[in-house]
Amino acid sequence: PAEDQARVDDIKRLLKAHNAVLVAHYYTDDAIQQLAEETGGCVADSLEMARFGARHDATTLVVAGVRFMGETAKILSPEKRVLMPTLEATCSLDIGCPADAFSAFCDAHPDRTVVVYANTSAAVKARADWVVTSSIAVEVIEHLQAKGEKILWAPDKHLGGYIQNKTGADMLMWDGACIVHEEFKAKGVEDLKRLYPDAAVLVHPESPEPVVRLADVAGSTSQLIKAAKALPNDKLIVATDRGIFFKMQQAVPDKTLFEAPTAGNGATCRSCAHCPWMAMNALDNLAGALREGSGEIQVEEALRLKALKPLERMLNFNA
Ligand code: 13P
Ligand code: SF4
Repeated sequence: PAEDQARVDDIKRLLKAHNAVLVAHYYTDDAIQQLAEETGGCVADSLEMARFGARHDATTLVVAGVRFMGETAKILSPEKRVLMPTLEATCSLDIGCPADAFSAFCDAHPDRTVVVYANTSAAVKARADWVVTSSIAVEVIEHLQAKGEKILWAPDKHLGGYIQNKTGADMLMWDGACIVHEEFKAKGVEDLKRLYPDAAVLVHPESPEPVVRLADVAGSTSQLIKAAKALPNDKLIVATDRGIFFKMQQAVPDKTLFEAPTAGNGATCRSCAHCPWMAMNALDNLAGALREGSGEIQVEEALRLKALKPLERMLNFNA
């Protein structure tokens, strides 16, 4: 619509005026991903978002995604202004892992190397030895396991279980989950597979184990998009937030993509496979953040320096 185009033009002008670049996650609205692409920003997974923001020479980063992504950008680039369309956009994994309780858990297991998923607060990262995203988690845990280290993992029990199955590492887990991926049902995926036996199944490992077991490829958002291209199948059943369909369909315009069902009877629930916090990012609040400087991420310096160490370990791993 014309109004949306006017908003897009307004944001393009504001980005230039503020020497700002837009960094968006694959789960944000199509319009935001498109805008990031058209303006020299990036659309990416959590790891690539962190790398892109840290390397870019803009003085303002506008992070469209959820809170931990903005915090990670600020921790890595304290000299940059980091804005988010809304600071309300959180994550069930972050909410489910409060820093105090997590710190007590770590204190109770001092013999374990603490590895936390990027989907956590700055305070939780500050307590960790390593931060990982889903695209690098298996490699990092393999590396630690080879050194004989025992792991304390938080917060996603499904991703943790997936890594443990792959590596055989000794992992003590925090009990957290992603409310979006937890809704995918193996029964629904099996029913869809029966309808389309030639389809390949792509699964984000934040999904429950019975769903991951059905996967031809399990991996982070960027790994799933790569797999969509690499696989010979022309039908793909995809178990992750449906925001990913925008870039995935661009990558494989001739393939048919199916949302993995979120209900056991095989019906697809339109509102389930989309993160309510990612959905809070919109053109309006994005423009507002740039115009008013609202939604600025602040991380207290002592905390930032503590959280920086495990984040840098991740970025320097295999770099
Ligand atoms: P990745 O994009 O790193 O796979 O993370 C998925 C996610 O849940 C982000 O919220
Ligand atoms: Fe968190 Fe899940 Fe939303 Fe990602 S999709 S931000 S893991 S709640």
